[in-house]
Amino acid sequence: MTSVKVRVPAKVNVQLSVGPLRDDGYHDLVNVFHAVSIFDEVIAEEADTVTVRVEGEAVDQVPLDDDNLAVRAARLLAGRAGVTRGVSLRIRKTIPVAGGMAGGSADAAAALVACNQLWGVHLPPADLMELGAEIGSDVPFALLGGTAVGTGRGEQLRPVEVGGAFQWVFALADGGLSTARVYAECDRLRQATGAKVGWPEVNERLLAALRTGDPKALGPELANDLQPAAIMLRSRLVRTLDAGRERGALGAIVSGSGPTCAFLVESKEQATDLAVFLRGSGVARSVVTAEGPVAGAVIV
Ligand code: C5P
Repeated sequence: MTSVKVRVPAKVNVQLSVGPLRDDGYHDLVNVFHAVSIFDEVIAEEADTVTVRVEGEAVDQVPLDDDNLAVRAARLLAGRAGVTRGVSLRIRKTIPVAGGMAGGSADAAAALVACNQLWGVHLPPADLMELGAEIGSDVPFALLGGTAVGTGRGEQLRPVEVGGAFQWVFALADGGLSTARVYAECDRLRQATGAKVGWPEVNERLLAALRTGDPKALGPELANDLQPAAIMLRSRLVRTLDAGRERGALGAIVSGSGPTCAFLVESKEQATDLAVFLRGSGVARSVVTAEGPVAGAVIV
């Protein structure tokens, strides 16, 4: 085996409920992840050292040193498995960088799967997910894919049954938002307003809508506790969300920590219509349509 290619999806959070700040700097969450058909590819080739190249959009914003999450994943797996060889990683990015769609985590997940195969380590999926959680809270979900409830800091996953395909439109913004900064802004807003922070609970109506595959029932249940913080840091997201709602989206939310906005629609035709409308209204850098759920990181 001299080369392995892995395809890995982006995610949107259909529910992101943020609990109190923990002593370790993370928040306890109820995070309902949903993998959508926007994919990065990671190609791993045999090499003596660990290196990474990145191709695609906004690649100047992706670190190429040991801060790169795919590099960290490869080094972590090599260390745990006693592998002394290196790997040349090539990342083809389509998932927006720092866009709230877990693109960096996706690349880490893909690197774990690719190196596991390339080096003949053959760790089982559960072990890869444990390693993934050490790299980032969203990495285990990028391995799993589908739709899943994440608890803890988002890394403890329970798959959720979904009764059909959901159609989405994503409005990508200029520039990214730092996840840590958005969480910090969420804490600041809560403190400033004296909001009582309860223990996050999964929304059973949302799970029922997912189970029946009914976008009209899912739309009103979409919720993201990070949205006010993302809007505070990027006020023009309000215009983007409003534009989608006015054009008939069933639900409109900031994706994760933003600044990407996610719109749920009823059909592929409506996705195309909304995408054309959003492109024409100038409220986004670019607009893409996608469907979910899709599988997690897979060798292709
Ligand atoms: O786990 P990850 O490295 O992706 O998290 C990035 C940042 O997001 C953390 O450093 C933390 O500030 C914030 N975070 C959080 N609570 C979570 C997940 C992430 O506060 N459950």
